[in-house]
Amino acid sequence: MKRINVDIIVGTRPNFMKAAAIFSVPHTFNNLYLRLIHTGQHYDAEMVDIFFEQFKLPAPVCCLEVGSGTHAVQTGEIMKRYEQWVQNNRPDLCLVVGDVNSTAACAIVCAKERIRLGHVEAGLRSFDRSMPEEINRIITDSIAELLFASEPSAVQNLRREGHGSYIYFVGNVMIDTLFRMRPQVELLSMHRNFGLKKKGYAFVTLHRPSNVDDPHSLKEVCEQLKYLSERMPVVFPIHPRTRKYLQLNGWEEKFSAMAGFHLLDPIGYLESLSLVLDSQLVITDSGGLQEETTVLNIPCLTFRDNTERPITIEQGTNTLIKRNWNLFRECLERIERGTYLQSDTRIPLWDGHAAERILKICSEQ
Ligand code: UD1
Repeated sequence: MKRINVDIIVGTRPNFMKAAAIFSVPHTFNNLYLRLIHTGQHYDAEMVDIFFEQFKLPAPVCCLEVGSGTHAVQTGEIMKRYEQWVQNNRPDLCLVVGDVNSTAACAIVCAKERIRLGHVEAGLRSFDRSMPEEINRIITDSIAELLFASEPSAVQNLRREGHGSYIYFVGNVMIDTLFRMRPQVELLSMHRNFGLKKKGYAFVTLHRPSNVDDPHSLKEVCEQLKYLSERMPVVFPIHPRTRKYLQLNGWEEKFSAMAGFHLLDPIGYLESLSLVLDSQLVITDSGGLQEETTVLNIPCLTFRDNTERPITIEQGTNTLIKRNWNLFRECLERIERGTYLQSDTRIPLWDGHAAERILKICSEQ
């Protein structure tokens, strides 16, 4: 059987749980040789190292060490450095995950070097081109040859865009990792470390440029968090991007002085999922958390105008707040009264075996 060298690209925090699903598939596909490539888009220990430890990911065979920069600088640097790796160590196939700059940059390199390219989480669309991630999704899907879709809307989007025989509906690798790690997560009960009651606090994560970069948007969001903290304790691990803007606009100091806030540095996957699991509700702008709360049946209020993951609204516990702060307050009341949405637990193919399906298809290339 021909050996197939597969590069798997990671670069940012949400990539690690997706790659972890792929690396944890039992060694059934003996012809696949998986090589982890880390672009270095994220580099702080709490954004990277902790995930390698918790997921027991293998050490990357190559670190591109690109670091931060404008979109063009970051994307260009990844392309230059990954191209060199590809020319010296030619993979037979490359798998990119998600929608970050590392995803699109490595996809472009592969397309030009004529390396077969698979996109995990293909077809998701917010239809909002002001989001850098939407541009990355469109670029990557337009040049990938294996499109691995996580939900039915993604399959529809890809069909509408004219992709035919390359679409594979495989399920959700993020949820593979959730199922695998859940027993460890349940042992943690992280909320006790903060003296909080189970189901008696809100868990908050925010990092999108549309929420945090602009001082006016940030002010609106922070005013709502202040309102929330007057009703229940708020646990808020802060992304480096968010911390920069909270500090710049004086909000970190204000929140620190308020009794209801627990402001944390970025935390690991196990700690984060433990805090989600025992929370009364989650407020987020992350894609992954919309999916995880859907599976865990936890109310999720998403501070965005749109979502590329509509199944979390159709079948899950997710509500898009769209800067409608009356809606936000109504949702809070419903959550407190116990009359908020419940998840339908039968999400097609979110069954813990998506990565297995992906590798089976790769092994047959
Ligand atoms: C990136 C992704 C976003 C994803 C997010 C998850 C793109 C365009 N965006 O956004 O889709 O949801 O990761 O976290 O790829 N920084 C640090 N330490 C780090 C990494 C970043 O301090 O380890 C700071 C730097 O000031 C940097 C800023 O965070 O300039 C933003 O980092 P960047 O990688 O550009 O984008 P994210 O906001 O993290």
